[in-house]
Amino acid sequence: MSAQDAPAPASELAPKLRATGISKRFGEVIALEGVNLEVGVNEFVSIVGASGCGKSTLLSLIAGLDEPTVGSLEVDGAPITGPGRDRGVVFQQATLMPWLTVQQNVEFALRGEAGLSRAARAARASEFLGLVGLEGFERARPAQLSGGMQQRVALARSLSYGPDILLMDEPFGALDALTRRTMQELLLEIWERHRLTALLVTHDIGEAVVTSDRVVVMSPRPGRVQQIVDVPIPRPRTLASERTVEFQDLQDEILGLIHGAE
Ligand SMILES: Nc1ncnc2c1ncn2[C@@H]1O[C@H](COP(=O)(O)OP(=O)(O)O)[C@@H](O)[C@H]1O
Ligand SMILES: [Mg+2]
Repeated sequence: MSAQDAPAPASELAPKLRATGISKRFGEVIALEGVNLEVGVNEFVSIVGASGCGKSTLLSLIAGLDEPTVGSLEVDGAPITGPGRDRGVVFQQATLMPWLTVQQNVEFALRGEAGLSRAARAARASEFLGLVGLEGFERARPAQLSGGMQQRVALARSLSYGPDILLMDEPFGALDALTRRTMQELLLEIWERHRLTALLVTHDIGEAVVTSDRVVVMSPRPGRVQQIVDVPIPRPRTLASERTVEFQDLQDEILGLIHGAE
């Protein structure tokens, strides 16, 4: 085999997502300043940092829900001009429509899919509800579900239209500790099987380390990329990966970076 036959190393592939020189001001508040970040195809990257350092702002810019004051944002080399179905978003609150059933909530998100018949839409919704472990709950209303189950619906909804990038802002932040663990396990399991580019904002350093290929540590306001920590823990991972010395060391390193910056 000649060198030409070898696949390009990941580092030589064009990034899925590129943020260049991003600054964002809200009046007097400088939320982000000079943020540069590249996320590779099917890479899992987490963003951590003190409260108010601009994590949610950065994610919403990438989601296309707001625009940077300065800088450029690209997916596959094309500028982000607004929200798009290439990017699925999961927030801390599930934001389901309370008058629709679980099944209808997911189907609703699929309405924009060209060429998808009603039956195909229903089948797709069921498939993704199954993926997140909600078979049997299709006809329930959101109010009948626990917080964790509502987040499962939100995840199914975001994955159902096949985004290339999954953006998550503290998706498990409102859940009790046990449910959070179950959801972390579910997210890992889904990601290990179905690989897509993922960007996760979290307060939970353990969650960042166990899920991610790299962890972006942001400095306190104005938010800048303070450091990017590689997580060379082998894949596929499970929550059991947390029991390794490597995991503990990385977690300590990141905690040190965050506290050192305060
Ligand atoms: N829509 C907005 N209007 C005014 N200020 C905002 C807005 N969104 C965020 N901010 C400010 O920008 C800073 C970063 O906020 P945010 O991105 O929510 O931080 P984080 O998610 O890291 O906690 C904070 O000081 C916040 O008050
Ligand atoms: Mg936030």
